[in-house]
Amino acid sequence: MKRFPVIAIDGPAGAGKTTVAKLLAERLGITYINTGAMYRAVALVYKRKNGDPVKIAQEIAIRFRGERIFLGNEDVTNLLYTPEMSMLSSTLSAIPGVRRALVPKQREMANYSPVVMEGRDIGTVVFPDADVKFFLTASVEERAKRRKAQFNDPRPLEEIKREISERDEQDSTRENSPLKPAEDAIIVDTTGVPLEQVVEILLREIEKKKLKFN
Ligand code: DC
Repeated sequence: MKRFPVIAIDGPAGAGKTTVAKLLAERLGITYINTGAMYRAVALVYKRKNGDPVKIAQEIAIRFRGERIFLGNEDVTNLLYTPEMSMLSSTLSAIPGVRRALVPKQREMANYSPVVMEGRDIGTVVFPDADVKFFLTASVEERAKRRKAQFNDPRPLEEIKREISERDEQDSTRENSPLKPAEDAIIVDTTGVPLEQVVEILLREIEKKKLKFN
């Protein structure tokens, strides 16, 4: 079966993936999928119930509605984006069974329409044959500043930098699907580049591929 086009956007925390992926999907008129939110949702349920994370990942019913993320009928968006959930989702995402449960769900989401899919392993593992792969990076300083502004984070910048570096280390050194650019990924350093401009850079690359989105 011919699948719809997939645009993969990977990279470390705070590189601008979410803002860029959302804007890009809007400009192309296609679906945006945030796989990090799925790992965060597993972390939230784990914190609440303290059960087996693999079973939680297998049974999780996460839905995206516009900007909001739902577990069943509960809007959990705000609960997912806390420093605690950032670290816990990173920790649980290193468990092979958790990834084995979520990856097929991510693949299935691209069965119905073209997608821009954001994460850590989209171009390497989830869709190694993605039509276009981007890997966004930026300096730790810049990423910490973006996080602070995006989440109105009251913590000192140094503390946010420490958290980001710790998460980078954890995500890049895990044995299973570590964070790393795919060999054929286009690497975009977003340090000092306004994110709207990053979107234009990505759009130009996508245009070269002459993809059909409908
Ligand atoms: O993109 P994010 O910061 O919301 O992701 C939270 C954590 O989930 C991240 O630190 C690692 C994990 N993650 C992953 O392992 N694979 C993905 N495709 C997306 C996120």
